[in-house]
Amino acid sequence: MPQEPAAIASVLQESRAFPPPEAFSRAAVVGDSDRHERLQALSREAPEVFWREVSRELHWFQPFTTVRSGSGPDTRWFEDGTTNLAYNCLDRHLEGPARNRAAIIWEGEPGDTRTLTYLELHREVCRMALVLSELGLAKGDCVGIYMPMVPEAAIAMLACARLGLVHSVVFGGFSSEALKDRMNDAGARAIITADGGWRRGQVVQLKAQVDAAAPSIPTLEHVLVVRRTGTPVAWTEGRDVWWHERRSLVGEQHEAVPVGAEDRLFILYTSGTTGKPKGLVHTTGGYMAQVFLTSRFIFDLKEQDVYWCTADVGWITGHSYVVYGPLLSGATVFMYEGAPLHPGPDRFWSMIARWGITILYTAPTAIRTFMKLGDDHPRRHDMSTLRLLGTVGEPINPEAWMWYHRTIGGERCPIVDTWWQTETGAIMIAPLPGITTTRPGSATQPFFGIRPDIVDGQGQPVPDGQGGYLVIREAWPSMARTIHGDHARYLTQYWSQVPGSYFTGDGARRDADGCYWIMGRVDDVINVAGHRLGTMEIESALVSHAAVAEAAVVGRPDEVKGTSVVAFVTLKAGRKGDEALKGELRNHVATEIGAIARPEEIRFTDALPKTRSGKIMRRLLRELAGGGEAFGDTTTLEDLSVLAALRQDDEG
Ligand code: WTA
Repeated sequence: MPQEPAAIASVLQESRAFPPPEAFSRAAVVGDSDRHERLQALSREAPEVFWREVSRELHWFQPFTTVRSGSGPDTRWFEDGTTNLAYNCLDRHLEGPARNRAAIIWEGEPGDTRTLTYLELHREVCRMALVLSELGLAKGDCVGIYMPMVPEAAIAMLACARLGLVHSVVFGGFSSEALKDRMNDAGARAIITADGGWRRGQVVQLKAQVDAAAPSIPTLEHVLVVRRTGTPVAWTEGRDVWWHERRSLVGEQHEAVPVGAEDRLFILYTSGTTGKPKGLVHTTGGYMAQVFLTSRFIFDLKEQDVYWCTADVGWITGHSYVVYGPLLSGATVFMYEGAPLHPGPDRFWSMIARWGITILYTAPTAIRTFMKLGDDHPRRHDMSTLRLLGTVGEPINPEAWMWYHRTIGGERCPIVDTWWQTETGAIMIAPLPGITTTRPGSATQPFFGIRPDIVDGQGQPVPDGQGGYLVIREAWPSMARTIHGDHARYLTQYWSQVPGSYFTGDGARRDADGCYWIMGRVDDVINVAGHRLGTMEIESALVSHAAVAEAAVVGRPDEVKGTSVVAFVTLKAGRKGDEALKGELRNHVATEIGAIARPEEIRFTDALPKTRSGKIMRRLLRELAGGGEAFGDTTTLEDLSVLAALRQDDEG
């Protein structure tokens, strides 16, 4: 076990409660408490019947006969069925009222806009699928997607799904080094990218990053380039192809390839407790069922909604709740390309007013940023179309929750605080907005069929009110099936800490009403501005710099970002720790991983405090990082070995 549950004792006591507004419940997808209870009982007592009923709404080329087989980490869902996720997101809607409904409404950072109906999106996806198959890509091949937030990002994912290609989306903010590592681990044969994307008025040069990575990706054969910014790009004949050129040469009819329910849909890399990100593998059928149902029930999606999830497609939230979940539900998805505060602090609110957005799903870090900027910016816009708000990615502090509720939601919108992970694929704990009484700071209740529990270091359940480790007792449809290329790591990391249960890596407590309060990570993963980062990953980036002997990275509580990165660094003999080197090291991390991992602060020390067994005393470093002032001028070397000696017996 990573850290004693006592260390994650909860201090949060929140008694404010917000029952769903009556009018909301009356119109909600799940608003009737009798129906809710029936569904709950069914999902608890007969989860297989429950998930069979859900999945029947979706299209199967070959219907499944078994809902669930195997157990624990080896659980398979709908194993003998064949389906296609893109077919279910698109083709399935073409015969019904969604045919001419907007599937994607998009606004670029410069203010340009596009709208694609389900019919139009279907055609674009078919075209891209045809282009990809002309390049020789076939079922099971891995394709990297490294894109700005433009409709073609979703089109690329759907085109891969349509062909049974396994996509691996890499967040556009990651560096070419990070892209290279991920593409090599996945063995990508192609990358879909763009010339660039707009961010804070600047062009992010995505194609140039791909060019830098490509020579070190031996499996890479093709780079399909979407023209977005029109910026000049270098060109490698035989490898690079323009999307707009190929698109005009293909038809617009393409038959979706039937894939097995347990066939791989995507690999998505996320940070863990080692220096190397892990590629979580998600499969098709179970993922589809759970993202479909959670989208519809938790976001209460209706045909008149304009739904906006602000996540980038590079994260799991973008996969499940920008692209797949809402499109499975036939919803209208709003998508925005750029930075939240560009060109001014009210960009979000102006878009909500202009597009009549009804559902907003964003991260607490964004809410805190806006809160700091003051109420004037949102007040200037008519946001009365909003009817539901959501949060994800980190615990939301009650103050931010209340601000969101009052200033953005006008006190009329339920807030769904949704707890889940890259590994879980879909939302696991969240309110149902027409049913659940919400409490600021709590993700409230488990979703249908999900069985969380809170346990101590021995894996024993703890009493309500007491902090412990959050585990999931039973397999669920959208869970990751393995870590790409390292099944052993998947088993030890997630399924061996509490035998028979999935170990989340989060601390939490459950209150007397059965509400869950997530307290944050209990391992060496930190959550910076809603982005999940492994401290080990940043450490190994630092150590790869010629001047660095050793590095230890910890999180420091931050008012806006939740956590910020502080690095303690020891230098090689003869290297002088000065401001210039600090800058160099911060940039080095940005080059190795991406700007999101750049340490907020670097502190040089002549030794890292370690236990007798050689383990870095992270708790001590966290305290030091949080204390700040006492250590004054941070350019001078801190003699942490002395402190370490004093604290030897403290951690062990
Ligand atoms: C944290 C994002 C509190 C948690 C979907 C988890 C949350 C990690 C919440 C996963 C929430 C996510 N309340 N904490 N509502 N949602 N987390 O893989 O620590 O990027 O383990 O998935 O974010 O981050 P990931």
